[in-house]
Amino acid sequence: MAARTKTGPALAEEERDMLEGRMGDGPRKALELVVAVGTVYGAARLVPVESVHVSGISYSNIGRHGLAYMKEILAGSRGFRVPTTVNPCGMDLETADGSGLDGDFVAGQRAIVDALSAAGADAILTCTPYRAGVEVKPGAALAWAESSAASWANSMLGARTNRPGGPEALCSAVTGRTAEYGLLLEENRVPTHVVDAVVRLCGPSDFGLLGLQIGSAVGAGVPFIRLAPDQPEPSEGELLAMAAAMGAAGSVALFYVEDATPAPPPGRWETEARKTRIDALEAGSRMLSLGRGSPDLVAFGCPHASIGDLRDLARIFRRRKARIRTWAMTSRKVRDAAREEGIAAELAASGVEIVCDTCVVSAPLGSMGFRRVALDSAKAAFYCPSHCGVEVVYAPREKCADLAVRG
Ligand code: F3S
Repeated sequence: MAARTKTGPALAEEERDMLEGRMGDGPRKALELVVAVGTVYGAARLVPVESVHVSGISYSNIGRHGLAYMKEILAGSRGFRVPTTVNPCGMDLETADGSGLDGDFVAGQRAIVDALSAAGADAILTCTPYRAGVEVKPGAALAWAESSAASWANSMLGARTNRPGGPEALCSAVTGRTAEYGLLLEENRVPTHVVDAVVRLCGPSDFGLLGLQIGSAVGAGVPFIRLAPDQPEPSEGELLAMAAAMGAAGSVALFYVEDATPAPPPGRWETEARKTRIDALEAGSRMLSLGRGSPDLVAFGCPHASIGDLRDLARIFRRRKARIRTWAMTSRKVRDAAREEGIAAELAASGVEIVCDTCVVSAPLGSMGFRRVALDSAKAAFYCPSHCGVEVVYAPREKCADLAVRG
């Protein structure tokens, strides 16, 4: 029998036990936060989640206070109650020692990952868990905190998740619950905007610019996007680049692309949704604080690369050699597949390092000595100047490779 908290969501018996501390202090505090979020958003109840993806775990972002909060929530809990995976952290765990990173940073980052692992998380440290073996059932309620992963889970995998903050996701992992609001409810999964993108797009970097503009135009809305009639069907890489950029410039966590993604339910939105037209990509470029001059780092793999992306990079770099640091960022699972196929060796021979567990936005690039990074990802280019204190050069994958080879 569910009982309503004074002003917030109704709670089932087990949830009341948790809230009253009968399951430990950590779960009590965690459920308090889940209930508080539900209260703010007017949720009628809490619902079980099938999995959680925790983000915001870079020591350069959350520091020792974030680590202390994490330990407080995990103290007295019996670990995570649902399968839990983890977003990239601030460094590649295998190469951090001796990499020149500050010792306190390395120790703090390891403590965060260790605390999550000890609570039962699968520390896959990737923002593309669905490319690293994590399966999602259609209709499943999730609490995935990484914006691009949440958007992909909602739009392409048929799951239902909001875009919780890192602490909220952590609390969902401890309690196994999330508040039922936002995109967990069918009525909020209909398009709020119809976007006519009447511009010819060439590759993921153009889709990224389009994504920045859509994100900026619709904010937290749900866009239904119509591409130009002569636009070829978008690839997974193009859709993901756009999804990641929409989540960066706005907070889009569900989108539809006509004839390219699962369709929205029919309804009044077809006449009521706001109309937006985009006929050029310049406004997207203007959202990036672009630097001038040569990069000292070229980075591919935001969101973390698929095996197909790594194959493509191996093709682009064949019989060429990068003359400046060049990263291909991905999960260990994809890296291992690349090793088996021989692609990792090909990339290494071309001077391309496969970097796992981290990314250009999560790593402290500025304090690692980098000043300017070339990127083919609009999301990374959007965040890098403010998060990492570096300038960015934004270009398609092939052009970024040329910059790496030219040095
Ligand atoms: Fe992933 Fe980092 Fe980009 S978390 S989406 S590679 S900014």
